[in-house]
Amino acid sequence: MIRYDEPSRTFSLNTPNTSYVMGITDSGYLCLYHYGRRVEHILPHPSWDELRTRDKLSYMDLAPFEYSAGGVGDYRPAALLVETLDGSQVAELTYVNHAISKGKPKLKDLPATFGSDTDAETLSITLEDKTAGVKVTLLYSVFEGIDAIIRSAQVENTGNGRFFICKVMSTSLNLVNNDYELLTLSGSWGREKNIESRPIGRGFQGVSSKRGISSAQEHPFIAVTTKGVTDTEGEVYGLNLLYSGNFRALAKLDQFDHVRAEIGIDPENFRFSVEPGESFQTPEAVTVYSSKGLGAMSRTFHDLYRQHLIRSPYTHKKRPVLINNWEATYFDFNTDKLLSIAKEAAKSGIEMLVMDDGWFGDRFDDNRALGDWKVNEEKLPGGLSYLVKEVNALGLKFGIWMEPEMVCPDSDLYRAHPDWAIKVPGREPGLARNQLVLDITREEVWQYCFESIKNVLSSANIEYLKWDMNRPLADVHSMALPADRQGEFFHRYVLSLYRMQEAVLKEFQDLLLENCSSGGGRYDAGMLYYSPQVWASDDTDAIERLKIQEGNMLIYPLSTMGAHVSDCPNHGNGRITPFETRGHVALFGTFGYELDITKISEEERAQIPGQIALYHKYNELIREGDYYRLASFSKNNEFDCWSVNAKDGSECLVAYVSVFARMNMKGRTVKLQGLDPDALYKVEGTDETYYGDVLMNVGYHFPEIRGDFQSRLVHFCRV
Ligand code: DGJ
Repeated sequence: MIRYDEPSRTFSLNTPNTSYVMGITDSGYLCLYHYGRRVEHILPHPSWDELRTRDKLSYMDLAPFEYSAGGVGDYRPAALLVETLDGSQVAELTYVNHAISKGKPKLKDLPATFGSDTDAETLSITLEDKTAGVKVTLLYSVFEGIDAIIRSAQVENTGNGRFFICKVMSTSLNLVNNDYELLTLSGSWGREKNIESRPIGRGFQGVSSKRGISSAQEHPFIAVTTKGVTDTEGEVYGLNLLYSGNFRALAKLDQFDHVRAEIGIDPENFRFSVEPGESFQTPEAVTVYSSKGLGAMSRTFHDLYRQHLIRSPYTHKKRPVLINNWEATYFDFNTDKLLSIAKEAAKSGIEMLVMDDGWFGDRFDDNRALGDWKVNEEKLPGGLSYLVKEVNALGLKFGIWMEPEMVCPDSDLYRAHPDWAIKVPGREPGLARNQLVLDITREEVWQYCFESIKNVLSSANIEYLKWDMNRPLADVHSMALPADRQGEFFHRYVLSLYRMQEAVLKEFQDLLLENCSSGGGRYDAGMLYYSPQVWASDDTDAIERLKIQEGNMLIYPLSTMGAHVSDCPNHGNGRITPFETRGHVALFGTFGYELDITKISEEERAQIPGQIALYHKYNELIREGDYYRLASFSKNNEFDCWSVNAKDGSECLVAYVSVFARMNMKGRTVKLQGLDPDALYKVEGTDETYYGDVLMNVGYHFPEIRGDFQSRLVHFCRV
């Protein structure tokens, strides 16, 4: 998979359909010669090297440097900016050596893809600027059968004094312009991951987060695509960062019509001090190239993350169908109420009760008590052990909600330790949802949070934890860091979070962890290293979920997407949708319920066992299969359609949501994808059969459905 050709001094990283080719130029720079469709033969050295002797600055601004440090004439975005002892930010990185090894190294304290000596290979290339005392080791890994390149960089101080890293990207990529567009996932609370596209013109186009979380507003993902890319056609370079904090991802068209794209930690609010002999490790970034549109890119990300990122023992297992009491009761519940929900849930085949926010301290609303992780005995007499035993006796598992990183000013914890909250000395910190963030980079604070989680989880038979995080960071300052190292805080916060989730999982190895941040505010590849599923959005309306879920499915496996059937009118937007449609949309995520099952109509309640039967029947296919986008409501404003196909072509489950009914349309015909063209497929529950090529090239006809927000599931099986 990885090859070095000594005569030409070129590195080739070959995946099934792509090649990433770098070369060491005569002057010792590492440059990218090609990234795209696979090439088997050695590439010639580019001619621009000759320019360097006569006009170094023009050369520096033209050559496609693999990892450019600033200050020596490359005026495009630098991958690395280091401020050395003399205050300059100048470094020129040239090749020192390289090594190719089997396997995939772990990254210290950071999430990382994993692989074995038989399915992964890693190339490390060392570059150095001796004058500046900066050594950079670039890591590249590839996995058998997967069209992705995994990259990260280590920056080492080989000088005599400390330096500050002011900018350090995980990936920098040079592309020859092809009239590219930039695709991003943007939104807000309750409107996460809307797919947006715009032309890449001169200047910067990109996304970032300064909120301390990857955020609902923008996401650490960009795709550089050819103009008008579709799900099946066009070129795509997708860049995704395995990181849950501040990030930046951008693309810039330069004077020669070349594009430089980058992804990494946001340099704003970042300044990391590195002592001689120490090094800094960037998060990992994944790049996926597809010459067959966005769909092939999605499937590569899904396979990569399912096989080489998500470590949970639940990754490839059916998760219990849960019922969460948040939208059922909000803060107004007690043991009796929860048991009445659990009792009814058990009758319908639901397998786990999740008790959400409001069970601790004097948490009767969202103005107080975060940090006081002691059971509220007024609500839950007999505590967790009594409640959990009773729930278990009904045949249900039990799960719980916590928001470990937070404290409310109105809490015993804050009264005892006001200095534990993140704030700048002498300034009043801004509240969000009446809460502050704990400085978990401080050891005693970290220990308190960890011990709180440990105490709760070990106090009863708790099998699932929803780890929430409901406000961004602001007024950032840490008492644990000196003034000249405050720029390290945001990154250290993320490292402390990762360390805490790692410690919890080590202690509770069978725990099913679901991350959440006001919905999808931290639904990113970094968190997937710790939790196999993430609550995708506080918007539980099946129709708005179509867009949100399409955005998530663009990069993340369906098995990771927290999705529930909720009550109507929807609490977020008041929309009324059929129970069946709500079930069909949630089925393609982790699946569960978020409603008061004792209060919904008998007619709706009667549908639950049937929905759960669908879940049991199709979950393996949905969890492990290949996802195909067939039509997009966010583009056509009428209907949505997608499928999940078995990898061996034996079956395919199509979901069709007719969002708006239209008169005299006579239904809609949709072309399927990914089937065996010569196989005959039978539509389950009918006598209809179609050949794969007919379904893909002519299409399947969905008859007209009257009324808005209607849905159908169609299951095709090879005969
Ligand atoms: C935000 C989450 O996204 C919700 O599901 C719920 O858990 C609330 N927090 C509780 O405060």
